[in-house]
Amino acid sequence: GKVAVLMGGKSAEREVSLMSGAGVLKALQSKGVNAHAFDPKDRDLSELKRKGFKRCFIALHGRFGEDGTVQGALELLGIPYTGSGVMASSVSIDKVMTKRIWIAEGIPTPKYQILRRGAYTREVVRTIPDDLGLPLIVKPAREGSSIGVAKVEGYSQMQEAVEAAAQLDSDILCEQFVSGDEVTCPVLGTGDEARALPVIRIVAPEGNYDYQNKYFTDDTQYLVPCGLPEGEEAAIQDLVVKAYRVLGCRGWGRIDVMIDAKTRQPSLLEINTSPGMTGHSLVPMSARAAGISYEDLCLQLLASASL
Ligand code: DAL
Ligand code: MG
Repeated sequence: GKVAVLMGGKSAEREVSLMSGAGVLKALQSKGVNAHAFDPKDRDLSELKRKGFKRCFIALHGRFGEDGTVQGALELLGIPYTGSGVMASSVSIDKVMTKRIWIAEGIPTPKYQILRRGAYTREVVRTIPDDLGLPLIVKPAREGSSIGVAKVEGYSQMQEAVEAAAQLDSDILCEQFVSGDEVTCPVLGTGDEARALPVIRIVAPEGNYDYQNKYFTDDTQYLVPCGLPEGEEAAIQDLVVKAYRVLGCRGWGRIDVMIDAKTRQPSLLEINTSPGMTGHSLVPMSARAAGISYEDLCLQLLASASL
């Protein structure tokens, strides 16, 4: 049956999603799947049903795509889709809700404070560096691809970082900075069948793995095999599978992790339930290291589409 690759959308990550979707579309078509691009920005999702689409590959990122809204619409339409369901998607898009669940389940994640747009004062903003230490990270609670993220090195930068994040979200996450190795680990499968792929270690110019260095420069190094001691890689894989399962994720996901340089303890930053599939993206890179081609990864994900 006809497959729609949902791509584009109206989040801040629209541009990234168009790159992910283009890759997925080409891969599925090359394997003989009757796949078509579908951009929910300019078309009503109910069209999917009228046009006879039988399944959806969700290549949308961020809000209105990765956050349970599109998943809910597809549930109502009765069209199976790739990736997590409504609840896991909507919890996972929110870095604060994700942390609350992980903390309740004993999964390590950096210490944080939350600010709500309109409810904080300059006095409150000033106290945060004392509580979390410097540097610290300020981010919108529900964005991706490092959009709106700032590393605050001193008190004087705090207000500006918070105001910038508040442009993008009503909830602002202030997080302790973990200095050490930046790694990421994909998970494929569902429930007891969920398995981690190889860990990738990310070495970005000046440690700054921002939007540009994620997608538009070739200055970031991706190490897979990651070169961590074997026990450390296996421990991270166990941890991310647990972190994925407790959120009730389905199909696939990718968890970003920092390893403290001094203690060597991992801290989980966030989960992406609709990870990037661009030419620079990490899940395809890790899958390739495990012997799964980009095309086969797309087919495998499509085969896991469900309601
Ligand atoms: N949010 C981007 C797409 C990622 O995590 O890959
Ligand atoms: Mg993310």
